[in-house]
Amino acid sequence: MGLKGKYALITSSSRGIGKGIALALAESGVNVAVHYFQNQGAAIETLGQIRKRGSDGFLVQADIMRPDQIRAMFRKLNREFGKLDIFVSNARPEAPTFYQPPLEISLKQWDTALDSQATAFLIGVRETLPLMNEGGRIFAITYAQGSRTGGLQPWVGMGSAKAALESLVRYFAVAVAKRGVTVNAISPGWTEDSVMNTLPEQVQHLIRDWHSRGWTPMGRLGTPSDVGDVVSLLCSENRAGSPGR
Ligand SMILES: NC(=O)c1ccc[n+]([C@@H]2O[C@H](COP(=O)([O-])OP(=O)(O)OC[C@H]3O[C@@H](n4cnc5c(N)ncnc54)[C@H](OP(=O)(O)O)[C@@H]3O)[C@@H](O)[C@H]2O)c1
Repeated sequence: MGLKGKYALITSSSRGIGKGIALALAESGVNVAVHYFQNQGAAIETLGQIRKRGSDGFLVQADIMRPDQIRAMFRKLNREFGKLDIFVSNARPEAPTFYQPPLEISLKQWDTALDSQATAFLIGVRETLPLMNEGGRIFAITYAQGSRTGGLQPWVGMGSAKAALESLVRYFAVAVAKRGVTVNAISPGWTEDSVMNTLPEQVQHLIRDWHSRGWTPMGRLGTPSDVGDVVSLLCSENRAGSPGR
């Protein structure tokens, strides 16, 4: 689809990967609802950068673990935009709220992971669809490699939640295909200017070193703007998703 004048909601678009997606879409003329949780200052700054790119938007605050707050976010979106062309489910709570190995994770920590990913996506997509016309695009930001081996034991909550999220993506993709709406998961690798920068300096160094020595073909970590480019690409004219072909 041509992106100029379209409307997007990206959860957690105030910073990190969500911000990279917001700025990439704004560059193409998309108006963006900038969602944040606690850091309003970062959201204001991101909205300013969107406006500098010639697009517009508004701020919306919500805890994505609270279904009532997710619904309130979509009510605000309906009032401000009246429609939605692109929904990106990207938010993830801070690691200390869920990061525990399988034998120790509390049910509260487990629920935090599942509620923030699978349940938030379930509610978010259902709220999106009445606002979305043919040609709409829905994305979930996941981390597929996180749960592949079970090796990173304290990731069990988020790894299981992301696996459930990826499964939901497939179910929704089938459920809405006939409406001309596509549903995709995007799974970035380690990404700069994100949660990565909150890790201990030594760990960051190890990860950067590993990538620059050739773990990735480009010899560097990904960036939020790389992920933004992937979203933009998948939002562009999608012949496979266009009805009548
Ligand atoms: N970073 C990576 O290397 C990487 C790799 C693969 C996949 N991913 C995925 O990419 C997504 C974004 O990760 P990131 O590293 O860019 O994030 P981040 O920089 O750690 O930022 C976290 C974001 O989540 C928001 N947030 C935290 N708790 C929330 C809650 N309860 N409700 C709503 N929002 C909440 C924060 O909002 P406030 O600041 O307003 O509180 C913030 O915008 C995640 O789904 C993550 O799993 C990341």
